[in-house]
Order: sequence, then structure tokens, then C-alpha cells
Amino acid sequence: MSFQALLDGLEIPILQAPMVGASDGALAIAVSRAGGMGTLAAGALAPADIGPAVAQIRAQTDRPFGVNLLMAPKVAPDAATVEAALERLRPWYAALGEPPPAAPNQFAPDFDAQLAALIAAAPPVASFAFDVLNREQVAALQAAGTYVLGAANTVAEARAWAAAGADGICAQGAEAGGHRGNFLADVEDSLVGTFALVATIRAAVELPVVAAGGIMDGRGVAAALALGAGAAQMGTAFLLADEATTSGPWRAAAEAAPDDPTRLTRAFTGRYARGIENRFMREMRSVEREVPPYPVQNRLTQPLRAAATRAGDPETLSLWAGQGVRLAERGPAEDLVRRWWAEAQAAARGLAARTGI
Ligand SMILES: Cc1cc2nc3c(=O)[nH]c(=O)nc-3n(C[C@H](O)[C@H](O)[C@H](O)COP(=O)(O)O)c2cc1C
Repeated sequence: MSFQALLDGLEIPILQAPMVGASDGALAIAVSRAGGMGTLAAGALAPADIGPAVAQIRAQTDRPFGVNLLMAPKVAPDAATVEAALERLRPWYAALGEPPPAAPNQFAPDFDAQLAALIAAAPPVASFAFDVLNREQVAALQAAGTYVLGAANTVAEARAWAAAGADGICAQGAEAGGHRGNFLADVEDSLVGTFALVATIRAAVELPVVAAGGIMDGRGVAAALALGAGAAQMGTAFLLADEATTSGPWRAAAEAAPDDPTRLTRAFTGRYARGIENRFMREMRSVEREVPPYPVQNRLTQPLRAAATRAGDPETLSLWAGQGVRLAERGPAEDLVRRWWAEAQAAARGLAARTGI
């Protein structure tokens, strides 16, 4: 079988985007059971937890599913850098009545160990963001029976994944919620909208393309398919799903989002990500270029964001969401997926009528 055949075999060509912090296996299982394809966000999992998490999904659905890893660089920041970053965060911690954390020993799970665990777990699909695997790593996954889906923000990144032997490209448009996946160029040069990105990657690379970014309902799914995507990947649209693990204050902010609410920031994690703008993003804007790179800043703000979540304070936690967040709706994931597919079919019928077919 090919990855294209896997996508063609889905009852509903909708992929649930992996979302660290907003999703776990339960959402992935619900989406796969509905006929789409769920994805476990394993980026923050310890290597030893990946195998059991994959086994749990496998035990609950025989449909295809994916597992996602974030390719965090290995970092060893010097003590002064960490101290300065913590000092900058001190007033934010103080406002929540917490001391800043001690300098951590580890800033992210070891990627090589996560990848080894993923190869051993052999899920149907593995997706990656923030960098590109080498040919040997891709081949090892494929030898285990896993299709490799690489995230690209630009055509050059799609070509890099194709050169590494990937089975498909996830084209992440600028509209997308959460972290940007860019790894070849600066974020300013990697903000192509989903329409242009899907079409230009399709023209450049002979691989199935999954469209991601700003797809919020069936109209968006139909548009992605019309552009030549093999499936639509949706993240923000699942933020309010019953099975999503989105915290209370985050859900409330998503439901109350004003017009055009999202911005990019690197203040929370040291890597640009899109979220609903809040006080932390605004007040850190002037120094956000100075914070240490991902995953250092990410680790240093984790306790802050956890404390803000406990306190119900949406102004100091990362409210990751895409540009379409106002269209997110509540409900069981299975109902959402089926409704979006019915809408996509209706959109296709409308187009057929409009085009005289
Ligand atoms: C809350 C949130 C968390 C995310 N976490 C991840 C992640 O762990 N791994 C990843 O590859 N992409 C992650 N993304 C990005 C998605 O894969 C995808 O590109 C994006 O959700 C698509 O745009 P949309 O949010 O407009 O649907 C995340 C997105 C959101 C909204």
C-alpha cells in the first residue's frame, strides 16, 4: 500500500492535527473511529511512554492513526542564559504567587530516544515537525511499516522531506494554530497561506499533500480537496471537542475570541507559534527576540503556564489557536467529523451545480 492509498481508503479524508496540550489518545481514537484519522501528539512524551500510548490506541481502533513527534534540537544553554531568562519571567511568576523554577537539567525529551520508541511501536503513520529526518531515519520507520508525513511551511521544506524519502507532506499554512514548523528559513519568510502553499507544493513535489491551517469546517475540507490535497488536517477546529484536553481558561478564551484574535509569538516557547493574543504576548513583545530558543524558553515557562491554568488566568498561558478559531464548535469529535464531511459533500454538490456539472 502507499500513503496515498491509505488516505484514499479513509471513509472521511480528515486528519486530526496532533496538539500537545490540547489532545491525547482519546481524541485520536474518536476521530479514527469516526472514519477520519486521529493523531497522537507524542512530542512531550517520555520515550518510555510512547509504546504504551500507541498500544492503547491500537487496542481501541483497527483504523489508521498517526503519532507525531516534535524534532526539538539538543540544547545545553549556559547557566547565565537560563538565569537571565528566568529573571525576565520572575514578575510573571510573582503575579501568580509562585517562585520561578530552578534551572532544569533537561529541556525536552530526547528526540533520538523518542524516535527509537516510535520505530519500535510502528504506528501506521508518523508525522514530524520543526526539522527534517535523514534518509536512514525515514527508511527505518518505513521498514517498520510506518508512513512518514513531514511538515513543511515552504516549498523548499517540502522538497527537503521528499529528498529524505518521506511518504507525504503536511503543508502547514500561515493560518495554522500552534507552532510554526519552519526549519529552513526564518518565520518571516515562511508564512505562506494554505491555498498558495498546498498548490505550490503539489506542483513541486510528487507526493500526497495534506493541507493544514485555517480549515474549520466542511467548506474548508472541500476547498483543500479541490486544491489537490489528499486530506485536510484540522487542529483548531477540535479545540472545543469534548475529547480535547484544552484547559478551562483556554476553552473559554477560544469561545469568547474577538474578531481576528490571533498573533504569532515566540515569548512562550522560543519558537514562533500562533495563539489568541493575551497580556503575556503583548507585554513580552518588545523582548521576545531575546528569549532563549525552543525548547529552553518552553521549559522555563511550563510551570508559569501550569500555574496560570490552575488560577484560571488566561492572560499568562499560551492560548494556541489558528486564525479560524471563532468558527470552532463544541461537541463529540465523532459528531464534528461526520458533520464536516456532510458539509464538504454539500459544498461539492453546490460547486457541481455552480460549474454546470
Ligand atoms: C493547540 C495546538 C497544538 C499543536 N500542537 C502540535 C504538535 O504537537 N505537533 C505538530 O506537529 N503540530 C501541532 N500543532 C499544529 C497542527 O499540526 C496544525 O498545523 C494546525 O493545527 C493546523 O491549523 P489549524 O489549527 O488552523 O487547524 C498544534 C496546533 C494547535 C492549535
